[in-house]
Amino acid sequence: MGIGWLKDATGKEVIALAIDVGQGGEDMDDIRQRALDCGAVEAVVVDAKDEFAADFVMPALKANALYQKRYPLVSALSRPLIAKHLARVAMELGADTIAHGCTGKGNDQVRFEAAVAALAPSLTSIAPIRDLALTRDKAIIYAEEHGLPIKQSKKNPYSIDKNVWGRAVETGYLEDPWNAPGDDVWEYTEDPAQGLPGEDVTITFDHGVPVALDGVSVSPLEAIQRLNASAGRHGVGRIDIVEDRLVGIKSREVYEAPAAIALINAHEELENLVLERDLGRYKRTLEADWANLVYDGLWFSDLKRSLDAFMEHTQKHVSGDIRVRLESGRATVTGRQSPESLYDFDLATYDTGDTFDQSHAKGFIELWSLPSKISAKRNQGK
Ligand code: ARG
Repeated sequence: MGIGWLKDATGKEVIALAIDVGQGGEDMDDIRQRALDCGAVEAVVVDAKDEFAADFVMPALKANALYQKRYPLVSALSRPLIAKHLARVAMELGADTIAHGCTGKGNDQVRFEAAVAALAPSLTSIAPIRDLALTRDKAIIYAEEHGLPIKQSKKNPYSIDKNVWGRAVETGYLEDPWNAPGDDVWEYTEDPAQGLPGEDVTITFDHGVPVALDGVSVSPLEAIQRLNASAGRHGVGRIDIVEDRLVGIKSREVYEAPAAIALINAHEELENLVLERDLGRYKRTLEADWANLVYDGLWFSDLKRSLDAFMEHTQKHVSGDIRVRLESGRATVTGRQSPESLYDFDLATYDTGDTFDQSHAKGFIELWSLPSKISAKRNQGK
């Protein structure tokens, strides 16, 4: 509905772009037609669900990406994809400016503009709501005055962002961080306390990517969609945190990401089975860096791309099966097997067949503790 307003305010022709990242809701063709009816010279719609799952979510899964150890970067992952298409369409159709609907208080404005800057440095970015004071009520009045066919959704008390990787809910009474989220907040998940009997799902990974569920081949998108349904039924992936925004604000955020939590739990456990100890330990420190960079809108930066290369290399042996129990809001790994496994039963067992030579342990500990022993002796002497 900002299209006509944007045209008047800037004196430029407006091209509309809508991208389907699995947010559901309105039909993309209806959106396209309404944009044209509102005065766009061109309206482009893109079904980017598979691209989003394969090229944006899978790298996040390989990095077990959780910002502040909790938030699976739902919105943060969709922004670089949207920015990529914004830049592409702008270049193809000869536009000089991109516009987005973010306010000036959030992370998404940074992510859109930083990504566009990295991909198409000649483009200017504007945010009408932030830069031209286009509030919701103003846009509605403008649309009424000009007889524009806007579809006014009944006023939702929450600010919601959705895609296949999850759903983010803010504002309303949630702005008081003491208020517990009520039942009306949730859409992707059922009440974890409803007492549904648990359910097992076996996730097969190939090089860090889920390729089958219970033996049935799936694309990354299908894996996410199916796990959203099954894990969501068991209330998996409800998240309620106070989050540190890039712009300095602490905000209360509620998320639901059933597939994301089930997949990250499973993927992490497969890595425990197949990654050598030092690599696992080092990877965990870089995972946090990866999540911070993506949260902060630096998807297309050289540092983030370099970390991607590292993450990709670590996935060489991340193939195998993980059994996950979905029950009462949790996705718990109960079994793992892999041809790449580093788990050696004969080394681990306490029963007969033990091949671990315990006599080596004594000398190992002697040398391992030597630095501590020497310094402790010195300290005692003082
Ligand atoms: N705080 C989250 C982030 O920065 C989600 C923002 C989503 N936007 C919204 N209107 N709820 O990634």
